[in-house]
Amino acid sequence: MKRVLIVGSGGIGRRHLKGYSLTGRAQLAIVEPDAGRRDEAKALFGITETYSDIGEADLKSFDLAVICAPANFHVALMRRCAEVGLNFLVEKPLSVTMDEVDETLALVHSKNLVARVGYVRRVADEVVTLRQQILDGKIGTLRLAYLNSSQEFPKYRPDFQRTYYARPEMGGGAILDAASHLFDMLIWLMGKPTEVSCLYDRLVLEGTNTEDTCLVSIRFQSGAMANVTINQFQKPNIARFEFIGTKGNLMLEHSTLKFTDDDSGKWQDERDFMQGLVPTEAHQARFRMQADAMLDAIEGKPCWLATLDDARDNLRVALAAKQSWLEKRIVSL
Ligand SMILES: NC(=O)c1ccc[n+]([C@@H]2O[C@H](COP(=O)([O-])OP(=O)(O)OC[C@H]3O[C@@H](n4cnc5c(N)ncnc54)[C@H](O)[C@@H]3O)[C@@H](O)[C@H]2O)c1
Repeated sequence: MKRVLIVGSGGIGRRHLKGYSLTGRAQLAIVEPDAGRRDEAKALFGITETYSDIGEADLKSFDLAVICAPANFHVALMRRCAEVGLNFLVEKPLSVTMDEVDETLALVHSKNLVARVGYVRRVADEVVTLRQQILDGKIGTLRLAYLNSSQEFPKYRPDFQRTYYARPEMGGGAILDAASHLFDMLIWLMGKPTEVSCLYDRLVLEGTNTEDTCLVSIRFQSGAMANVTINQFQKPNIARFEFIGTKGNLMLEHSTLKFTDDDSGKWQDERDFMQGLVPTEAHQARFRMQADAMLDAIEGKPCWLATLDDARDNLRVALAAKQSWLEKRIVSL
């Protein structure tokens, strides 16, 4: 059994608590400043070891920390872990500014820690298969991607006006909160981003200071390009990601992956990776898979979860997107 400290037991902290519980490989403790949430987590997950501040926990007694506080706290919490040599998974995004990011990453690297970032789509079967098909050359050379993820966010997160989402300085909004997942997919599939341009605004949602819509264009070192479109108010729930290569296209629509290499209008090799599964359960299952991947990684096995350097590139894309619109220019990274 590994000793795992979940730092922050809010929405995502609970998913991790459940995910690590289901591995059967973790003895769990939590840090949660909010007494009500702490008690809820104790009751829901039978946890007996709890702290209200990370400073109270004997970090050296743990094998892994899972940092689930809002993103403006991530750098300070990663630093606490690195200082005592504690491996960690930090939730996305890496931070909300570049302040102290490079110094913290250098400290983590100097200690040879296992440190990864919680871009959970990297364990989803449909994304892993998509990546493998691209690597196998199914669509020739990947040159272009169009990603649209748009849905009525308040329906899925009714408390959105009271969480970090409402506040840009805590990592809220369409770019840092939602598009960040898609930036990770692009970085994993297309490599290093070099240029970014963007339009964004709060077009509909009330009671936040954050953008609910963004149109981001990214150029990569390979010369390939991508467009990321998000709105968080439309009624239909769209997640449509198209990857266009020199020999064909791959399309991932929610969990359905399909391929075409002609103009017949018909898709081939269509497969729904969630067929027969309940979507909410399948999503929770990814947190167990991610937990197993982290526990494997600290046992020295290979790990394909996002690295801190991937997440640094990702944060730079997000910040460049905001800068692009504010300064009305294309930003080079
Ligand atoms: N991977 C995903 O799919 C996904 C989904 C949702 C959120 N997230 C990320 O997870 C993080 C948290 O989001 P959430 O939805 O759980 O937010 P939340 O507001 O529901 O929960 C955050 C919790 O952290 C606690 N907290 C605040 N400061 C803390 C500190 N210094 N130490 C320990 N705990 C502290 C809060 O009391 C709260 O309970 C964000 O970075 C967010 O972007 C990831």
